Amino acid sequence: MKVLLIGSGGREHALAWKLAQSPLLETLYAAPGNPGIAECATLISLDIDDHAAVAAFCKANGVTFVVVGPEAPLVAGMADELRAADIDVFGPSAAAAQLEGSKGFTKDLCAKYDIPTGAYQRFTDAAAAKAYVEREGAPIVIKADGLAAGKGVTVAMTLGEALAAVDDCFDGAFGAAGAEVVVEAFLDGEEASFFCLCDGANALPLASAQDHKRVGDGDTGPNTGGMGAYSPAPVMTPDMVARTMKEIIEPTIRGMAADGHAFQGVLFAGLMITAKGPELIEYNVRFGDPECQVLMMRLESDLLPILHAAATGRLDTVSASWRDAAALTVVMASKGYPGAYEKNTPIRALPADDAVSKVFHAGTALKDGQLVATGGRVLNVTAVAPTVAEAQKAAYQALDRVEWDNGFCRRDIGWRAIAREKA
Ligand code: AMP
Ligand code: GLY
Repeated sequence: MKVLLIGSGGREHALAWKLAQSPLLETLYAAPGNPGIAECATLISLDIDDHAAVAAFCKANGVTFVVVGPEAPLVAGMADELRAADIDVFGPSAAAAQLEGSKGFTKDLCAKYDIPTGAYQRFTDAAAAKAYVEREGAPIVIKADGLAAGKGVTVAMTLGEALAAVDDCFDGAFGAAGAEVVVEAFLDGEEASFFCLCDGANALPLASAQDHKRVGDGDTGPNTGGMGAYSPAPVMTPDMVARTMKEIIEPTIRGMAADGHAFQGVLFAGLMITAKGPELIEYNVRFGDPECQVLMMRLESDLLPILHAAATGRLDTVSASWRDAAALTVVMASKGYPGAYEKNTPIRALPADDAVSKVFHAGTALKDGQLVATGGRVLNVTAVAPTVAEAQKAAYQALDRVEWDNGFCRRDIGWRAIAREKA
């Protein structure tokens, strides 16, 4: 099979690395890719916003399957256009991608199909939103409705913070994404991410992970796209996974199909495990980054036939097996991230990959033969071992061999799981 992978982050490097191991693969192309992805795929220069050009590339080169990594092309309808051109695509239609593209859409689906989530209301003007916030009191959560690069959510511990967040959204802090605001009850518990493949009707549960969103050690400082992750998430016991499938994932798949936009691709459920059980915080319609990196390190099965089965309505014919081990990834970011940072700083050395550890590239580029950092999140140093503590040790040992003066990382990825292992 000839496959095209869309994207250029650490998530896509992990997908490319795993797809490249498939005996079913003839050629793997990637657009736009990165220097890490170039080690396992042929990079092509394509404007991925031009869906007709992507379809034309596939037709001209015998590509029959496209795997879409990030959410933006999905929300923009890439999967619809490629499918209309008879190309198999892993990833949902624009209508189904609203599960990530509109928080209000997802909350309405939860209400309609009785999926556990925080009580909420949607607002299009500040005065009504503020009146609701004042009635409900803090803590309370204020969310810009649309895609805001992970920055549109304020967990307000005081009324003042909540009212200011409402103003921020309607004053345009998140652009069009904030034209509508969702105000939601604060959920108390431990967060976990759960990943499940869907083919429109069938579900194949994958695995769980936990990420570290805050930039600083001890989960302090501003939110980021994720500074590290590990899999599995200890809070996702077999019982909790079974409840998540029955109470959250399965009603979502049935509801989406019944409403005329069957979901196909990966459902990434952000969960809060509360005293009542799993509750949905949000859905994403693509793999997490860096959660995908730890999932791919643990996946034993061939990834290609599983993704292709999801894309073609045959998920009931495949299964996935996982290493009974922990995987952990540490993100190295450019100093300053998630604020402003210097670009094109040289990365002079990387550790060689071995059976335990592997470096996935995110924001890197080659400039005159020199590897440089071009993004905020730049490298994902990932390791797999019997316990989270051992995976953490191996990941930091590899990371300490990275020679990049402008890079930094958290030193405590996995702390919660390691404390549990010690208990
Ligand atoms: P989201 O972008 O929806 O994932 O929200 C970002 C983060 O805000 C989540 O990972 C949670 O840590 C937090 N969060 C979102 N919604 C809630 C909620 N209803 N209760 C408590 N924390 C929340
Ligand atoms: N790491 C969180 C995300 O991919 O949304």
